[in-house]
Amino acid sequence: MLEDMKGGLFDLDGVIVDTAKYHYLAWRRLANEIGIDFSEHDNERLKGVSRVRSLEIILEMANKEKAYSEAEKTEMMDRKNAWYVDYISKMDESEILPGAREYLTEIRSRGVKTALGSASKNSPMILDKLKITDLFDAIVDGNVVSKPKPDPEVFLKGAEALGLAPKDCVVFEDAQAGIEAGRRGGMHTVGIGPPDVLTDADICVKGLYELL
Ligand code: G6P
Ligand code: MG
Repeated sequence: MLEDMKGGLFDLDGVIVDTAKYHYLAWRRLANEIGIDFSEHDNERLKGVSRVRSLEIILEMANKEKAYSEAEKTEMMDRKNAWYVDYISKMDESEILPGAREYLTEIRSRGVKTALGSASKNSPMILDKLKITDLFDAIVDGNVVSKPKPDPEVFLKGAEALGLAPKDCVVFEDAQAGIEAGRRGGMHTVGIGPPDVLTDADICVKGLYELL
């Protein structure tokens, strides 16, 4: 499957860079400000999930999903994002996950096309900070996608942007919702993380470094 791959579709958070810790710190700060406890364990449920859905999950955990107006929820998401952007603006190349840059470079050198497939609206800034924008032929992110994973939209748009059929593409994902999106889109899937969590992935590795 990896030898026949013509296109690689890469999630960002948890695959290329470990931004989950910054999402967690920012969501926890927001949750605490509105009187909700939020643990690292709770944060697992937010991985790969859109910003809107993340807030809903936090409010549901405290049975507060009906306590706020749409305007208040928008303000809360903006508040969280400002803290998150503050964290990621301080990131540098040392925060690229092991093997990510090397693997992208290696597959590109043998003619494989690469696309980013992320729900994050902050993707362009993160790629810029890490100086890896040039490693992608196409960028599909939260700014151009309307249906969150597990809907396959993000990866279908990625394959289309690369001019490839889904079956010739491999999705690299750390979230179960992302693996499901890849499967529903007709792509092969590589899970980055424990096989007992990413049960539907074709294969699982601990990080892209294992594929070098
Ligand atoms: C990725 C992350 C999620 C995050 C989402 C939206 O999928 O895994 O945890 O909620 O992007 O990110 P954003 O930067 O737009 O808030
Ligand atoms: Mg992810």
